[in-house]
Amino acid sequence: MMLKEYVRDIQDFPKKGILFKDITPLLASPEATNVCLQKLTEKLKNVKIDKVVGVESRGFFFGTLLAHELQAGFVPVRKAGKLPFTTVSASYELEYGTDTLEIHADAIQKGDKVLVHDDVLATGGTIKAVCELVEALGGEIVQVSFLMELLFLNGGDKIKAYDRFAVMEY
Ligand code: PRP
Ligand code: MG
Repeated sequence: MMLKEYVRDIQDFPKKGILFKDITPLLASPEATNVCLQKLTEKLKNVKIDKVVGVESRGFFFGTLLAHELQAGFVPVRKAGKLPFTTVSASYELEYGTDTLEIHADAIQKGDKVLVHDDVLATGGTIKAVCELVEALGGEIVQVSFLMELLFLNGGDKIKAYDRFAVMEY
């Protein structure tokens, strides 16, 4: 199956000069979704994963599927102010200014084996902040996975310390 046929290029979204990779056609196809899920879990079948951490919002799509498939718990990392219980937060750089992500303080136990997942690795700012949150709670990151990695943005340089897997590369 040519998975990239299920990723639609949208020019100048959300702003001029950006080529947006739209995964809604992939999500709308149970076959393509299943192929992605199998690729994402292939090397983890015999690895113990306690928690899958998914990043709001597009990291939630496959995050919960992955948790179910791996029989692990799902943990949401959310944008500031969305989680109701005690949180730990991490900030990261945007093109202009900063943004903040949060995780519930009791979401990960010390020593938990964690799979971190998001849809896209671009500059890597988002995922680096997420990895900091997981480690602040004592989680051990087994792998960081994505549906796609935008190689030309070199986001991988920010998460060199971890095993990294992307279903598709651009
Ligand atoms: C997008 C994407 C990744 C992140 C990648 O999320 O879903 O989470 O940007 O960019 P980076 O590697 O440069 O940090 P966005 O913040 O647009 O929010 P969304 O997932 O809620 O759409
Ligand atoms: Mg996102």
